[in-house]
Amino acid sequence: MQKKAAIIATCIGAGLLGVAIAAAAPSSKKAAAPAAQQGFDAAITRHADTMLEEGRRTFRYDTFGSEAFWGDALQLHKAIAGVKNGGVGPGVSPKTALAVGLKVDSDALPSALKKQIAAGKVNLDDPATTLALLKLNAVVGVTAFTNKDGSVRSMGIQCAFCHSTVDNSFAPGIGKRLDGWPNQDLNVGAIVSLAPNLKPFTDLLGVDVATVKKVLASWGPGRYDAFLNKDGKALRPDGKQAGTLIPPAFGLAGVDLATSTGSGSVTYWNAYVGVTQMHGLGTYFDARFGDKDQYPVSAKSGAWNTREKPDRVTAKLAALHFYQLSIPAPKAPAGSYDKAAFERGKALFNSPGKCATCHVPPLFTEPGHNMHTPAEIGIDSFQADRSPTHMYRTAPLAGLWAHQKRGFFHDGRFATLLDVVNHYNAHFKLNLSDADKKDLVEYLKGI
Ligand code: HEC
Ligand code: HEC
Repeated sequence: MQKKAAIIATCIGAGLLGVAIAAAAPSSKKAAAPAAQQGFDAAITRHADTMLEEGRRTFRYDTFGSEAFWGDALQLHKAIAGVKNGGVGPGVSPKTALAVGLKVDSDALPSALKKQIAAGKVNLDDPATTLALLKLNAVVGVTAFTNKDGSVRSMGIQCAFCHSTVDNSFAPGIGKRLDGWPNQDLNVGAIVSLAPNLKPFTDLLGVDVATVKKVLASWGPGRYDAFLNKDGKALRPDGKQAGTLIPPAFGLAGVDLATSTGSGSVTYWNAYVGVTQMHGLGTYFDARFGDKDQYPVSAKSGAWNTREKPDRVTAKLAALHFYQLSIPAPKAPAGSYDKAAFERGKALFNSPGKCATCHVPPLFTEPGHNMHTPAEIGIDSFQADRSPTHMYRTAPLAGLWAHQKRGFFHDGRFATLLDVVNHYNAHFKLNLSDADKKDLVEYLKGI
């Protein structure tokens, strides 16, 4: 008995010693590297690598067959080409494309072309240049389909259209891709409005073209309404626009429900958007959206139970999900916030009964069911009531610094972080001093 205990004690001692050595050894990094994997372990690693790459490709380049909608039905490619290039109207120059928030992937540009652009030798006022960029697959989130003679036949969109931007390293709007960062400049409504044929919208919503254009114009840059073709609610009861901010698709691993009103998980929402918003060909099922009182438009159109063949979405959902969960929230650049104030703000954020009760670090949302009633957070229920949940999801806050342009909360109703803090201060009766508020803001900027 005693011998056994001694052996155990020796083993524990050796174990601890081992840990101490590993921690002290300068080559501890090397020691932590996994041994060459075999069998099922190796299969898991290979699978992860494949999923990541497939998911990235889908996120960036897969139109899911959405060209049947954006090109074939709306004829948007014709408006981009312009009458001189076989389309209609004046066409869309690169300058205009950049002005409505489209981004250009500098890695897709041949170096000779980059030199010409830098030397001012490329005509950025000519729609033909836009077509050339589209053919190079350089316009983030938009793919053109061409005829044998090089003319553009159709076009489709990708996830990256709304959820990628570029780092502007070449020129404003032109640079390396930043997947998962919301395109804060993208004016989806202005782009859709260019379409020569808006009949798919007028038919679905039962309104005229002027009304559709008014609604599209109401969103502005960085906003989109993913519920319009479900409930037909074009504007809020107070007459304001009904779109929500295009959110980041980063920092979502560990977060239970996705979107501001938590209709489902990330992959749930990918099917929703891929099939019912991008109009890719696929399968989407959610009986909640067949409720004719809450969702008269989708109850009638049958979009809540879409079964298109061939299904070009479903087989891609797993890798797409995996890829998004791999995108970290980007770290705030050094110097973009005050470090001492950040530390004081952190203590406030985490003190009992304050922010961290809901925004639980390091997820900054609740582990579990991360949803709250509108009354709990002191805002109106309009958007919550458009969702099957009638609630708002605790926004995961990491990487907030990367999307401050359009304001905060689901619709950007608070222009600044200080406005958000003031709202909570009043709503929760926090009695924060002006200095406390500033510290909280610095913390929010740095997480
Ligand atoms: C036309 C613009 C647009 C396109 C294209 C688009 N989305 Fe979104 N996405 C949005 C908007 C707007 C929301 C916010 C909806 C809400 O909060 O109600 C959103 C929400 C999300 C979210 C939830 C983020 C969070 O904080 O929980 C994820 C993830 C996402 N989209 C991924 C994708 C993927 C993947 C694709 C491609 C299959 C895609 N989106 C295509 C506009 C778009
Ligand atoms: C009762 C739970 C709860 C508490 C407590 C809470 N929040 Fe929130 N917070 C939410 C929810 C839910 C949202 C999403 C609101 C929306 O999308 O309209 C949110 C959104 C935010 C946003 C906007 C994020 C974005 O992407 O626009 C910020 C910033 C924020 N909270 C900071 C704080 C701070 C600071 C505190 C403490 C003073 C706090 N929250 C306390 C639930 C809470």
